[in-house]
Amino acid sequence: MELIIVSIVLLATLYFLYSVLNSGSSSSTKNGKQQLPLPPGAKGWPLVGETLAYLQGSKKGVPEKFIAERRDKFSTTIFKSPLLNENMVFFCTAEGNKFLFANENKLVKSWWPKTFEKIFAPSEKTTQGEETMRMRKVLSPFLKPDSLQKYIGVMDSETQKHLKTYWDAKEVTVYPLAKKYTFAVGCKLFLNIDNPETIAMLEEPIRHISSGFVSSFPVNIPGTKYHKAIQAAKKIRTDIKHLVAQRRRDILEGRAPKSPDILSHLLMETYENGELINDSDIANKIYGLLHGAYDNVSALLSSIIAYLAELPEVYDRVRSEQIEIAKSKAPGELLNWTDLQRMKYSWNVACEVMRLVPPTQGTFREVITDFVYDGFLVPKGFKIHWNAFATHKNPKYFPSPEKFDPSRFEGEGPVPFSYVPFGGGPRMCPGKEYARLKILVFMHNMVKAFKWEKVFPDEKITTDPVSAPSKGLPVRLHPYK
Ligand code: HEM
Repeated sequence: MELIIVSIVLLATLYFLYSVLNSGSSSSTKNGKQQLPLPPGAKGWPLVGETLAYLQGSKKGVPEKFIAERRDKFSTTIFKSPLLNENMVFFCTAEGNKFLFANENKLVKSWWPKTFEKIFAPSEKTTQGEETMRMRKVLSPFLKPDSLQKYIGVMDSETQKHLKTYWDAKEVTVYPLAKKYTFAVGCKLFLNIDNPETIAMLEEPIRHISSGFVSSFPVNIPGTKYHKAIQAAKKIRTDIKHLVAQRRRDILEGRAPKSPDILSHLLMETYENGELINDSDIANKIYGLLHGAYDNVSALLSSIIAYLAELPEVYDRVRSEQIEIAKSKAPGELLNWTDLQRMKYSWNVACEVMRLVPPTQGTFREVITDFVYDGFLVPKGFKIHWNAFATHKNPKYFPSPEKFDPSRFEGEGPVPFSYVPFGGGPRMCPGKEYARLKILVFMHNMVKAFKWEKVFPDEKITTDPVSAPSKGLPVRLHPYK
């Protein structure tokens, strides 16, 4: 009891001291001169700031609440919040998103929380920001429309195989199966791997990564999600390193794959100084890529399946669009690029799902030089968070924001930079088009084969840190004869 009282007194004293020390933070001084004010914001609790409040909103399925409450309280387009042990400035408008994306590497640069850096362990020779730019360069030959067109048939046959193998049951749990599917297609297309044992070995650890990213208790001790994620990351990097070494041996012995995959390209990539990239760094890049493709696509697929179960009229329109396309095909003919261009309503449905529950809620930037936004000084070293929920759920951009309405994406579509599920500017997701194809191919096969209903009608979609159904989405399947 005594210990509790002492702890409370200690916490209260800390909070008081913290408040006094921070009481001048609404405006800043430089060389004794009064400067423009900093963005308004709460002080939060010592050490944790507002991190817990932010994470709790996401876990309860209302991440937009944290942002809307502060935006409305201060009546500003940006606000400051002590988050992840940083001075974090939230940008809340489409104009703010545009400003950030346009000023990449001018006023701001990519930044990730320390927890993320530890899990993704960037190369010792480059920063995380440089790593992703390099990854983008390696990815682009695979993700340009010409190459993507070649993937559609493979995606279609892999999807049919997956549904036959894993969905032949009265009841299935969608999210883990969607992960299995996404991962297997990624391994096949990016690494030429289709051995189910190798795929299962690589997939097991990757399941534990995301929950460790933005942990409310990021301490590396056994039992925490953060510790589990770091261990899982080590394991997957080691496994991939073995695959890289095996591929080197295959190439030396004349057994290289006929069409070069991403791994073949990475084996020929060099650092700035001309040295070939080492196996650890290659393993790291492949791991980052598999992970980027894994969580987002599987979360989105699961959310789409959840919404289609809840909205029978939307399901019917998606099904009739897909059945029209299926009817135009010869028996056994696989989907192609032209078929996918016809899936307009289905894609609008996927877009509306990404508006309501963007798989990635946003990312971070670091301020590299002081700037002024909307009358507030945003100093060098501050971190910035853009968050898709801030605009996606704002009635200014999306009237009746809770209403499911795929027609928002018809015609000119949403106000520029208000709809940002893939980010924007030079850092916009390079896997956007690949994801679109995979989602549409899956929707086509899914509605052709089944109708379904949720086992837990009230199951919510929560954000932790990706947005996905909170219980994994068990559904009862009703196959068409
Ligand atoms: C529905 C699916 C997906 C969504 C919603 C999504 C969303 C995002 C978002 C929001 C970003 C951050 C952009 C920024 O910071 O401005 C991002 C970055 C990235 N995504 Fe995706 N993504 C998806 C699928 C994919 C796929 C399939 C791949 C790989 C084939 C991929 C690879 C990457 C990579 C490598 C980056 C880092 C880019 C950089 O920092 O330069 N993503 N994604």
